[in-house]
Amino acid sequence: MKIKSVEVLVTSPGRNFVTLRITTEGGMTGLGDATLNGRELAVAAYLQEHVAPSLLGRDAARIEDTWQYLYRGAYWRRGPVTMAAVAAVDVVLWDIKAKAARMPLYQLLGGASRHGLLAYGHASGPTEQALFESIDEHLALGYQAIRVQTGVPGLASIYGVAASSTPGIRYDYDPARPASAPTEEAWDTRAYLRHVPEVFESVRNRYGGALPLLHDGHHRMTPLQAAKLGKALEPYDLFWLEDCTPAENQESLRLVRQHTTTPLAIGEVFNSIYDYQSLITEQLIDYVRSAVTHTGSITAMKKLLDFAAMYQIKSGIHGPTDISPVSMAAAMHLGMAIHNWLFTIEGVAGV
Ligand code: CO
Repeated sequence: MKIKSVEVLVTSPGRNFVTLRITTEGGMTGLGDATLNGRELAVAAYLQEHVAPSLLGRDAARIEDTWQYLYRGAYWRRGPVTMAAVAAVDVVLWDIKAKAARMPLYQLLGGASRHGLLAYGHASGPTEQALFESIDEHLALGYQAIRVQTGVPGLASIYGVAASSTPGIRYDYDPARPASAPTEEAWDTRAYLRHVPEVFESVRNRYGGALPLLHDGHHRMTPLQAAKLGKALEPYDLFWLEDCTPAENQESLRLVRQHTTTPLAIGEVFNSIYDYQSLITEQLIDYVRSAVTHTGSITAMKKLLDFAAMYQIKSGIHGPTDISPVSMAAAMHLGMAIHNWLFTIEGVAGV
């Protein structure tokens, strides 16, 4: 199973999915995803220039060894570009191994722990009416859990909230636009903190208490603000409050944790399983939010989620629209196998 060729394919204009294809001397092929939203071409260059040449002639069956070779072999460990590249190779090698074994990948990871996988839909709208329309649309599509994102009175536009509920209107940015300057938006935390509990009150009144509801704070709050929001949302029984504080300051979650029983999820911008050490051992979170693409892939995520399981922490694998179907498939195989699966995939109606 020696590796004969390594190809980097950039596809899907407007999205820039970065796909890695490896072919062995025996003619087996596998696919992996290296899409790093907004910085896709940096990973494509890293794979092309630094990773592809080092893989030629290696045994494609050596998955753990190749992960360590790529991770430890570079002076610079971790970082989103490096880890997306390592993850792409890892998914390719698992794909090849499963094909060689003639089994679905989840069988090689320990076999199925469940019959199917629960996913939530991302519903959003600038007004209450538009939000209700978006929720209705997702429920009609069969989603059994809803992430609720809302506009805030007085603020023109907000990241994570679609401008309208018209099908096809994206709620996020266009990663492949020519000038990738950061979007600058006006923001008012006090207005946001006043408004969000009112929205959840309306949503609960309309849809009842049983529907699992989630909310993403997009790393905007200070620890005190996040604690306040978590407390204010307790009557609405959130499934999770996600990314309430900036992820790079992990200690801040201690204060949030001490003040609210609203479950917490974080990790979509982490690029290493080591980022989770204290969050897991101190039980500061309830859900691991990493994507297979961005945190070192199946080999790393399996270790991370088994470690998390010892602390009753579950998976909430990140699956936004800027992760390619290859990574979605990898996440689903991992989710089928692990015992502490809960959610993944932000299905967006109309996209
Ligand atoms: Co998030």
